Amino acid sequence: MSNTHVNTGIRKILEMPFVYNLFHKLTGGNAFRKVYFDKYFALAPGSRVLDIGCGSGVMLENISEDIEYTGVDFEPGYISYCQNKYGNRGQFLLEKVGGSVKQEWVGHFDAMNAHGLFHHLADQDIETVLEGAFRYLKPGGYLVSFDTCYFNGQGALSKWLVSKDRGQNVKYPKAYLALAEKYFSNIESELYTNYHRLPYAAFAMKMTK
Ligand SMILES: C[S@@+](CC[C@H](N)C(=O)[O-])C[C@H]1O[C@@H](n2cnc3c(N)ncnc32)[C@H](O)[C@@H]1O
Repeated sequence: MSNTHVNTGIRKILEMPFVYNLFHKLTGGNAFRKVYFDKYFALAPGSRVLDIGCGSGVMLENISEDIEYTGVDFEPGYISYCQNKYGNRGQFLLEKVGGSVKQEWVGHFDAMNAHGLFHHLADQDIETVLEGAFRYLKPGGYLVSFDTCYFNGQGALSKWLVSKDRGQNVKYPKAYLALAEKYFSNIESELYTNYHRLPYAAFAMKMTK
């Protein structure tokens, strides 16, 4: 990953899919994920979904089995973890979204998930993902992003926890929106200030093509 991601010291162990999953179970992150996926990905059977930066495959724990799922990640460890754990439930590809154009994906997907992705990427890489996502969505399809954020009036503990995130490009909502608006004109957004047992904060954007 780019240098906007730190994986040294204590944060190194979160790179292990098993530890990452356990961390989210203990902090309440997993319970919130159910809320998130129910809200944004209650799709019709047969819908095609692209999970950008699928990591350990948590999306599959939270969506219906009749959704056609493709997960991509550029870290080989995550892809082999997902292939072993989920087998045929989805297609898992070692791929960098936005790295090059995959013609067979142009206008192909109903929905896309970028959960916990943008705040790990440099702005230029976020734009590459947004451009690729727009290209790969069907008209009327949408991309949802969900990222750790700062917000005005944030308490000191929340601000400190957010500053310790492995992603080193955490932004205020306005700055996430400014990037998204370069590629999408139809954006709904929501700020979550208490989605963890810890006082973490995150910003979601639903960007429709
Ligand atoms: C913090 S993890 C989030 C994983 C998962 N979405 C979740 O919520 O648990 C971000 C993931 O995005 C991957 N990634 C970053 N940029 C990517 C890109 N352009 N294409 C594919 N994967 C990417 C990283 O390797 C990493 O696994």
